[in-house]
Amino acid sequence: MKFFFLLHKLIMNDPLAYLNGAIGPLSEAKVSVMDRGFIFGDGIYEVIPVYGRKMFRSDQHIARLFRSLAAIGIPNPHTKEEWLALIAPVMDAHAADDQMVYLQVTRGVAKRAHAFPSEVVPTVFIMTNPIVLPSDAVRAKGVKCVSMEDQRWLHCDIKSTSLLGNVLAAQNAVESSAMESVQFRDGYLTEAAASNVWIVKDGVLMAPPKDNLILEGIRYSLIEELCAAEKIPFKPCRILCADVFGADEVLLSSATKEVLAVVQLDEQTIGKGVPGPIYEKLYKAYQAAKAAS
Ligand SMILES: Cc1ncc(COP(=O)(O)O)c(C=O)c1O
Repeated sequence: MKFFFLLHKLIMNDPLAYLNGAIGPLSEAKVSVMDRGFIFGDGIYEVIPVYGRKMFRSDQHIARLFRSLAAIGIPNPHTKEEWLALIAPVMDAHAADDQMVYLQVTRGVAKRAHAFPSEVVPTVFIMTNPIVLPSDAVRAKGVKCVSMEDQRWLHCDIKSTSLLGNVLAAQNAVESSAMESVQFRDGYLTEAAASNVWIVKDGVLMAPPKDNLILEGIRYSLIEELCAAEKIPFKPCRILCADVFGADEVLLSSATKEVLAVVQLDEQTIGKGVPGPIYEKLYKAYQAAKAAS
């Protein structure tokens, strides 16, 4: 009976999800309203791209998951091998070959009080969705972004589910028909709502340093590696607002954008208004890295 139920759910496009030790249809996964993820946004998450049913840079994503858990004092409930074994059946059961695996760990269910409860069991949730990448047409043209003041907290290095600042920045972009909001703190570039931001000037690629003001995207280190291989000079440094508007190229990077060229920021055309040569090189190298993984 259970088998037919499951089959029905799969046919009805209801993928499987993992929640606290059990796998079942996503539509039936439920957590308590007393979960601290719901009450306080007290949790962390990860998003891992999957190509051809294989996770891309999974070691780096799992390492970041461990860093995020440690940063907010949630005991890591699983080893790396256990995490990979939990993800596999959720990923394998999905119809799409290319996916975006989402993992979330919250501090767990407890009576509402701000400080950490004692003896709480973390809530662990895993789901997956088809990955939606920019179309070839969007890629070829490049995208428009808008600028805004970074209004988030001072631990953007933690991949926390407390994403209100990012949510408002993403909405700001949508309301301006833009791909992303490029954020500035005290006049310096930080990052976009859900992407790292890079600029190119005179052939040198630059990005804000890996510190508490940005999330270190998994693509950050990958792009560093690609730069070394492609002989593109890379310099992590603080970048003034005027340098972003005056850059030869501006790029976004994230699991779902991979590398994407920005050709307009607010009303300002970036560079020649088309995706530039460093973008083209990095995108090609990124695709080669995916194919080789
Ligand atoms: C705020 C923020 N910065 C940067 C990134 C890029 O990270 P990654 O390359 O791991 O996707 C993301 C991804 O969602 C993000 O949300």
